[in-house]
Amino acid sequence: MKWNVEKRLFLREVRLADAPLLVRWFNDHNNVRYMSPIIRGKRHTLPSMKTEIRSIDPEYEQLFIVCRRKTQKPIGHAGIDDLFRLDKRGEIFFLIGEKDEQGKGYGKEIVSLLLEQAFGKLKLHSVSASAVLENKASIAILKKAGFRKIGVRRDYNRINGKYVNEVLFDLLVTEYLKKKK
Ligand SMILES: CC(C)(COP(=O)(O)OP(=O)(O)OC[C@H]1O[C@@H](n2cnc3c(N)ncnc32)[C@H](O)[C@@H]1OP(=O)(O)O)[C@@H](O)C(=O)NCCC(=O)NCCS
Repeated sequence: MKWNVEKRLFLREVRLADAPLLVRWFNDHNNVRYMSPIIRGKRHTLPSMKTEIRSIDPEYEQLFIVCRRKTQKPIGHAGIDDLFRLDKRGEIFFLIGEKDEQGKGYGKEIVSLLLEQAFGKLKLHSVSASAVLENKASIAILKKAGFRKIGVRRDYNRINGKYVNEVLFDLLVTEYLKKKK
């Protein structure tokens, strides 16, 4: 089935000036509760965020700010990390940091933009993603984008004191191109 996605958003590279925005989004526990422990596991500060932005190595990670086309307003953060050029693979992640922008179908658009970047620009062979089992919206988005469930890591995350499973997904370039046709 073809995946029709609107084009209301664009991705741009993360800049040092985005540090305050990222600190606000990352310190909102409820917002990042399903994200990697690298994000949800610590309190972020302006200096720590600036250090992280300065240390981005585009060889291994491509990190973006997601913006609305109409207003240029930043609404979230997304990227491709664990990039291994030798194997031509990477892993996507996404966060709509502005809560009033959630529930509008932007997640689907962000994944579509990340896949364009991953398969179109970086010429990857496979892309992986994972989502905490409770994160139904993310799982719905990944499945719609053509990702295949490849397994479950049991009790992989401890969220609010409770162990939860994480679902693993992947998508090959051949499957992506077939779906795009
Ligand atoms: C999770 C997130 C990316 C979802 O993006 P979104 O644009 O707000 O998603 P939407 O609310 O439009 O929902 C996307 C799809 O999931 C479905 N969905 C949402 N909640 C659902 C639920 N509880 N059960 C089943 N399906 C659900 C929606 O119906 C929609 O499907 P549709 O396209 O067929 O209408 C976004 O809310 C977010 O960034 N949250 C915080 C960070 C996060 O959890 N990131 C992901 C880490 S893997």
